[in-house]
Amino acid sequence: MPEIHDPNLLVGLNTGDDAAVYRLNDELSLVETVDFFPPMVDDPYTFGAIAAANAVSDIYAMGACPLIALSLVCFPRESPDLPLSALVEILKGSADKAAEAGFPIVGGHTVADKEPKYGLAVTGLVRTGKHLTNATARPGDQLILTKPLGTGIIATALKSGLARPETISKVTSIMTTLNKAASEVMVAIGVNACTDVTGFGLLGHLTEVTQASRVSAEIRLAQVPVLEEVWGFIADGIVPGGNYRNLKYVANCVVWDEGVSEDAKLALCDPQTSGGLLISVSADKAAALKEALKAAGVETAADVGRILAGPAGRISVVP
Ligand code: CO
Ligand code: CO
Ligand code: CO
Repeated sequence: MPEIHDPNLLVGLNTGDDAAVYRLNDELSLVETVDFFPPMVDDPYTFGAIAAANAVSDIYAMGACPLIALSLVCFPRESPDLPLSALVEILKGSADKAAEAGFPIVGGHTVADKEPKYGLAVTGLVRTGKHLTNATARPGDQLILTKPLGTGIIATALKSGLARPETISKVTSIMTTLNKAASEVMVAIGVNACTDVTGFGLLGHLTEVTQASRVSAEIRLAQVPVLEEVWGFIADGIVPGGNYRNLKYVANCVVWDEGVSEDAKLALCDPQTSGGLLISVSADKAAALKEALKAAGVETAADVGRILAGPAGRISVVP
């Protein structure tokens, strides 16, 4: 993309951030993001809800509030497996999730496409200067993760019919959970940086944070929440291509301790759909943040590692 020179563009393309931030005036800034993808679950209503929770997550990762959204729809004109009623269900699931988050879906656009896809372009608002970016993590910060990892591997198992019903419902409830409460809590406490964990996995997104913030990080594997079922699927070779791509993407940044298994490396690189927030908070506020997250009903608030002074982008992973 060509470089943009606009003094009102507070967050653009440079920091690999979750959303763009555009200053309207001294009071308010717009926050803009878009996300859409093919279904990862069979039920169209659930897919719509996941797509909406995932799209708005980038607004929450910036410490902002969603205002309105537009639908992006790709759907086959005529297909025996995909009646138009499935699209109605996708839109219903999305609208219900948006209503839960407190924003309306005010329009959209549809393109005829053999493979269905759905998502949202979301516009949010934030007080000018109060947005959270990838670029402001500080040495000494603790890293808090608000959802367990493993949705990518489990979605792959699901497609092959290998996931148990209770595993499917667990992973569905994780992916449809909004990052709203977690975002509101971190904004109230005051944290240094935040991103959400999505397609690049925990280590891929942490790489963006450490590069943009010009710091290093340490991840303690034992403290990273991973859905239990994931280990069996990895052992059986049920791993999406994205895990290997992510592993390759972080190869130059990550220093693996000898005690970290190949299976664990794949888990830490699992691409997430609608994953949790990865919050960089100063050590003196970490306990208060975790307590407030629990009190707000956020089930996971795991202390997965810390930010260190060191070469920009470097991440060491220890057992
Ligand atoms: Co994001
Ligand atoms: Co995104
Ligand atoms: Co149009």
